[in-house]
Amino acid sequence: MGACLSLINLLKKTNRKTLFTTPSHGQKFFVFHKFRQFYKYDISETEAQNPQLALAKAQKQASKIYKTKQTLFLTNGSSSGIIASVLACTQPKDKVLIWRNAHPSHLNAVKLAGCEPVFYDIPIIKEWGIPDKTTPELLDLKGIRAVIVTSPTYEGIVSDIKTIKKVCSEAYLIVDEAHGALYPFSDKLPQSAVNIADFTIQSLHKTAGGLNPTALLHVNCDIDASIALNMINTTSPSYPLLASIEANINYLNSKKGRKKIDNLISEIECLRKNTTNVEFGGDDITKILIKKKGLTGFELSEKLYEYGIEDEKTNEISTMLLTGIGTSSEKLRRLSKILNKI
Ligand SMILES: Cc1ncc(COP(=O)(O)O)c(C=O)c1O
Repeated sequence: MGACLSLINLLKKTNRKTLFTTPSHGQKFFVFHKFRQFYKYDISETEAQNPQLALAKAQKQASKIYKTKQTLFLTNGSSSGIIASVLACTQPKDKVLIWRNAHPSHLNAVKLAGCEPVFYDIPIIKEWGIPDKTTPELLDLKGIRAVIVTSPTYEGIVSDIKTIKKVCSEAYLIVDEAHGALYPFSDKLPQSAVNIADFTIQSLHKTAGGLNPTALLHVNCDIDASIALNMINTTSPSYPLLASIEANINYLNSKKGRKKIDNLISEIECLRKNTTNVEFGGDDITKILIKKKGLTGFELSEKLYEYGIEDEKTNEISTMLLTGIGTSSEKLRRLSKILNKI
């Protein structure tokens, strides 16, 4: 495996064999011309160009970067990572503890695994109209095989995963960190669960510059999650998407990538300093959670929209504008200017 090319380089290599294999477009017949480059890299597992080894190497390298036992590349979003985690660590009829208002993939995972869902509730932070963090006191783990915790929440509320892990002696801990893919790459962001929970799932496409719907499943226990993942995955994976995941992780882990994240944080700190007529909240600075006296969250969202700014999520009290590694300084300056005008 040592001598095999990276996934990215393997896709760039010209294949000199005449292939009578899938995909029959043969990297040369472009039904949709605008995606010409995508077709060029769209290969299958063949004798001549065998990408499985390169994928295995890329995933191994990723697990070294994240210091996990296993890191798997997902091309069907965090949703597939959550389903694979539950399938991997449960038997039919096991009880799985999930948040009542969690992303639909949590209940879907429990149903697909033939398990019994048990629900927990999280109180609302009244001053912001958003769900609070998950704490051990909210989790009744008696007879529970696995528990899923969402951290950060959509709005950037982060739970103390270390403390939760301590009470999970009998249950597997699965952390939905779909909105926290930048956390392992900056000390200025909340601590990631990747080295604490048994399974952690992150969407690269949400905040970390990844293409839709690239994501990661990190494993920290002795279960090989690839067996469960293969049960729900296609047997014809998209190698362009998989290669983009390899490139994405290498970028985030590079000096340039880490600096880009730190710059984003500094620019948001600057925006917060210069924007005086709204209040900022949340545990994760990259989720710009704001409210304004005299306006409901929905009214604030509407006003922003009139100025051409669309937020990610709004409730009665507050609104949240999502940023990520691709958020430009100009965009943040424009936001600050408009917030000061409202
Ligand atoms: C908290 C949370 N978990 C999981 C998901 C699923 O992520 P994906 O779209 O990558 O499948 C989402 C998507 O919005 C989410 O908000």
